[in-house]
Amino acid sequence: MAKYTVITMPGDGIGNQVLPESLRVMKAVGFDAEYIHADIGWDCWCAQGNALPDRTIELLTKHKLGLFGAITSKPNKAAQAELKPELQGKSYVYYSPIVTMRQKFNLDICMRPCVGFTRNPLNYIRKKADGGYDEPQIDTTVFRQGTEGMYAGVEWTNPPEIVRAALNSHPRFKAFANVPGPEIAVSCRIITRKAAQRIVTAAFEYAKKRGFKGVTICEKPNVVRETSGMMEEVAKEVARNYPGIALWSTNIDAQLMWLNKNPEEYNVVVASNLFGDILSDAFAGLVGGLGFAASGNIGDEVAVFEPTHGSAPKYAELNPPIVNPIAMILSAAMMLDHVGEDQKANRIRTAIADVVREAKVRTYDMMRFTGGPRAISQGAASTVQMTDAILEKLK
Ligand code: NAI
Ligand code: MG
Repeated sequence: MAKYTVITMPGDGIGNQVLPESLRVMKAVGFDAEYIHADIGWDCWCAQGNALPDRTIELLTKHKLGLFGAITSKPNKAAQAELKPELQGKSYVYYSPIVTMRQKFNLDICMRPCVGFTRNPLNYIRKKADGGYDEPQIDTTVFRQGTEGMYAGVEWTNPPEIVRAALNSHPRFKAFANVPGPEIAVSCRIITRKAAQRIVTAAFEYAKKRGFKGVTICEKPNVVRETSGMMEEVAKEVARNYPGIALWSTNIDAQLMWLNKNPEEYNVVVASNLFGDILSDAFAGLVGGLGFAASGNIGDEVAVFEPTHGSAPKYAELNPPIVNPIAMILSAAMMLDHVGEDQKANRIRTAIADVVREAKVRTYDMMRFTGGPRAISQGAASTVQMTDAILEKLK
């Protein structure tokens, strides 16, 4: 019997192209696992009115470790139109299966490393005052609260009377009191102290493990006083348990400016859900973008690892596939870290670093080509060739 059981959920589009590549790499480093396929995504929605089927939930509940590719999601009207005819008009509502998964298993620690590889042509460079350029070594991990905040899902267009009444009890709602129901939409930003403690603690633990000297809490407590205020207050409390590690505080807007000026100064950044989502994409853009952006959604029991990119439907049918498998492979490496197989994970990261540094094998995104069927004939490596190059380094 294998030591680990991993639930594989390729999902939609390019999820089906990149996930198998990560399995080849894990096999090459001798990760002793059995893989069980589980369905997720758009086809499940169309056929069952549920993008996250019960069997998938059962498998994750039982085996606790998941590897996920990507899903397609579409706006409400399109989602309804594509439901199979028997299900239409029966009040099925589309929920993003990854958001549901995070909430169902309380995968509240969303960890998104953004680490630059030497000689990646997509790396951030900076013009120097005296001419020339420098390329700072970026090593940032964003800790994004994964279950609450703006993505808690408590929202309405045309809020029911009882909600309207509650909102009316707030003096600041007077400005909106006369707006007709269908003309107003409300999304609640919810932060709980416990979840704030967990995400900030995860960030400090990581800083401690890596030997970093500070953690940045990135919120907006001067304006969003209650929710960002609680995040910051909790961060200050947690920081007291880590005497050697400083707590820095930035506002989300200023932080987005600073990460374009001195990104190398931020090693660990912690934020609520929406801000963390924005920050992790912004940092990822400095180290290669979606082809390199890995993530883990980690709860007390269950953990699911996934690239942050989506299903990229326009590339899903290309043969051979052209998308970069590195984000998916790095996500698998994070899974190995999570189960304590750090050495195997490090071997994978080193092999990727070697391929990138050598600069012989590059997918279309790394060549800065427009994606499409011509990418390969222009000299880009295919998805499979990129994995082959990584496997070669692992020999
Ligand atoms: P996307 O991430 O699928 O693709 C955006 C663009 O990024 C692509 O057109 C491509 O140019 C590039 N790209 C993405 N992955 C790449 C890779 N591995 N290698 C090279 N280039 C890559 O985002 P988009 O187009 O906004 O959304 C497409 C679908 O994916 C939508 O239905 C959306 O809802 C869904 N989505 C799902 C996510 C998930 O599964 N976690 C996350 C983001 C979007
Ligand atoms: Mg995102």
